[in-house]
Amino acid sequence: MRLARRMSRLGTETAFEVLARARLLEAEGMDVVHLEIGEPDFDTPSNIVDAGANALSNGYTHYGPSPGLGEVRERIAREISETRDISVTGDNVVITPGGKPIMFFTIMALVDSGDEVLYPNPGFPIYESMIRFVGGVPVPMRLYESRDFNIDVDEVASQITDKTRLMIINSPNNPCGSIITREDLEALAGLAKEHGIPVMSDEIYSRFLYRGEHDSVASFPGMREQTIILDGFSKTYAMTGWRIGFGVMPLELVEPISRLVTNSVSCTASFTQMAVMEAMNGPQDDAYAMVAEFKKRRDIMVEGLNRIRGVRCAMPQGAFYVFPSVEETGLTSRDFADRLLSEGGVASLAGESFGQFGEGYVRFSFANSAENIEKALDRIEDFVGKNTS
Ligand SMILES: Cc1ncc(COP(=O)(O)O)c(C=O)c1O
Repeated sequence: MRLARRMSRLGTETAFEVLARARLLEAEGMDVVHLEIGEPDFDTPSNIVDAGANALSNGYTHYGPSPGLGEVRERIAREISETRDISVTGDNVVITPGGKPIMFFTIMALVDSGDEVLYPNPGFPIYESMIRFVGGVPVPMRLYESRDFNIDVDEVASQITDKTRLMIINSPNNPCGSIITREDLEALAGLAKEHGIPVMSDEIYSRFLYRGEHDSVASFPGMREQTIILDGFSKTYAMTGWRIGFGVMPLELVEPISRLVTNSVSCTASFTQMAVMEAMNGPQDDAYAMVAEFKKRRDIMVEGLNRIRGVRCAMPQGAFYVFPSVEETGLTSRDFADRLLSEGGVASLAGESFGQFGEGYVRFSFANSAENIEKALDRIEDFVGKNTS
């Protein structure tokens, strides 16, 4: 079968491929520590599961409106108004099956062939994939390890042209765990306003912070009108498999994005939407406890990696990933990750799967038990010892 040409421009998220490879090795009897996939190892809190089950029993089993159920959109708007210090209503919210579709739909809705899009690199691979898919030109905003994996705002300013149609930012960042400082956010907001560039702000890790409070670019004066906030419940409430997230956006974008929902998935599952009502209204203890636990694991991971000769690991301030440099081993990041899995039994992701500036690095997720992390560290040390040239 002949594939449409556009398919050659669509990339992927390697995490799912590595997970499949790791599962195959496990089926052959190998013991693998999974540090590749970006999802909490905790189960969804039971009050949320119960709310979902009750919703199923109570008939939330039908199609709903494409942008989401009215009461859920309102509740999300209240949550975002309070946590981002802005004023939005349910009319600004579009609920989708996961946060990811908001990337897909925003890029589809705003980027024409030949338009330039600024995006973080290293960064979540779907940004670049989608920019290319719609025929746009990806313009990487480089995150520098020497700047704690942050951008150089002057460099970004020099990358803006009259073809720049969208800026994508992600704080806390996947894969680096870095946070954009308030000063940099303000400077980016200034650039976006000066040049009239909409910003898609991926804030899916906003609750996974190991210091300070979350800042959103949307909270700077005038920015609410040109920001699409992407957020969701997958990570915060360990609900990855439920598939629910949302975008909060200017009103003029709600109809086109909802039309994209109608054309693709129709709507998000109704019982899932009722479950997140409980996630937002119910006790937050489990969500806080998870972050506290992740902080402990982060410390074990960073300390352990920095003890290994040939590995250098910065301290992430958010999300649940570390992005150590493995350059000194002399292996490419792809070889390192491939062989660490097949020879060392640890699944990780090569830095280059997060863009060209990820080469030389590897991403490990610390959303795994402390015991498994310790086991992985021993294996990594062993592997690096055998392979450092
Ligand atoms: C930066 C970033 N944004 C968005 C998502 C998508 O999350 P969801 O599972 O809600 O679609 C992920 C998931 O890994 C992510 O890392």
